[in-house]
Amino acid sequence: MTQKSPLLIHQNILINAWEGASLRAMTPAASLASIAPAAGAPALPILFKALGDELRLQVLRLLKDESLNVSELCEVFQLKQSALSHHLKILVQAKLLGRKKEGTVTFYRREVPEGAQESLLAEVLRQIDTTALSPLLQRGLLRVQAVREQHSRAFFRDNSERLREQQELIASWEDYSNATLHLLERTDNLADASVLEIGPGDGSLLPALAERAGSVTGLDNSEEMLALAKARTLRFENVVLVLGEAEGLLGDKRQFDVVIANMVLHHTPDPAAMLRAAGQLLTPGGRVIISELCAHDQLWAREHCGDLWLGFEAGQLSDWAHAAGLENRAELFLAQRNGFQIQVRLFQKQTNK
Ligand SMILES: C[S@@+](CC[C@H](N)C(=O)[O-])C[C@H]1O[C@@H](n2cnc3c(N)ncnc32)[C@H](O)[C@@H]1O
Repeated sequence: MTQKSPLLIHQNILINAWEGASLRAMTPAASLASIAPAAGAPALPILFKALGDELRLQVLRLLKDESLNVSELCEVFQLKQSALSHHLKILVQAKLLGRKKEGTVTFYRREVPEGAQESLLAEVLRQIDTTALSPLLQRGLLRVQAVREQHSRAFFRDNSERLREQQELIASWEDYSNATLHLLERTDNLADASVLEIGPGDGSLLPALAERAGSVTGLDNSEEMLALAKARTLRFENVVLVLGEAEGLLGDKRQFDVVIANMVLHHTPDPAAMLRAAGQLLTPGGRVIISELCAHDQLWAREHCGDLWLGFEAGQLSDWAHAAGLENRAELFLAQRNGFQIQVRLFQKQTNK
């Protein structure tokens, strides 16, 4: 191996640090290795450079609970992609933002602080979050969510009759519904409990819920789907159907003992907000049951099943639930069908929230 000049070694450090690699393993000189950050942590100059710009702080503030792609971020900030990409790259290199590919589109979200600089990062992010999003960014975010929502609503309006068929290609309704009922039956005093099903679709699960629980509310934002649900629940006096958005219930005073959302989050523009709404609507100690697709890369689901998100990592759902004051209680991973896997999750609201 040829001996590197000190200058080349220095360049090597910068390049390695830039890529977030562990310098300890890569630099030959012990004195240089001693200035390396711990494995996985960004070097401090990279971190502070990333934080030293108002626009980048706004990106971090915006992505606290959101996951947006580049064109959505451009829409929110009213900037060209060429002007924004540079900032995103710096934030990713500093490990402040993470990237996730959804088919051909890359989404950005804020990384959860961890590792050697966890407390420093957590404090920095806490400080960033003390300032509210500017009205300009709030309006931009609403525009982006409205576009996502239009896409989802149009799909259910146009496909209400053949939805079950399309869905069965991905997931067995019976399997995840049985798992949901199994988790529901763990609820104390279920016969008196109030249950909210978000996105009941054609209402297939509502009769089983009505037979077990005290009262059942089905909330769906599609009139066409609610009409199908109504036909299935006419004989149940303890079922109420409501037209509306789950995220619109944030701040609502109603309370439920159990909230169920099966195959809904991946159709919603802002899954974190739906979980926050679920958390708020629960009585202390109340439960949320969610059936969802695990992360996948089958793009056709967007067009044929109206999916806005290509499933979710289990950890992502846990993070959003945790931020909504919910604790992970149980998780079931069902067998794959056509390359899709379903996670059925039980979260419980902390009793002191
Ligand atoms: C794929 S279907 C799932 C239906 C049923 N839960 C099942 O497992 O078969 C998704 C349902 O969620 C509804 N939906 C989507 N986004 C919603 C939102 N933000 N608020 C309420 N309902 C929503 C859709 O209209 C649709 O009926």
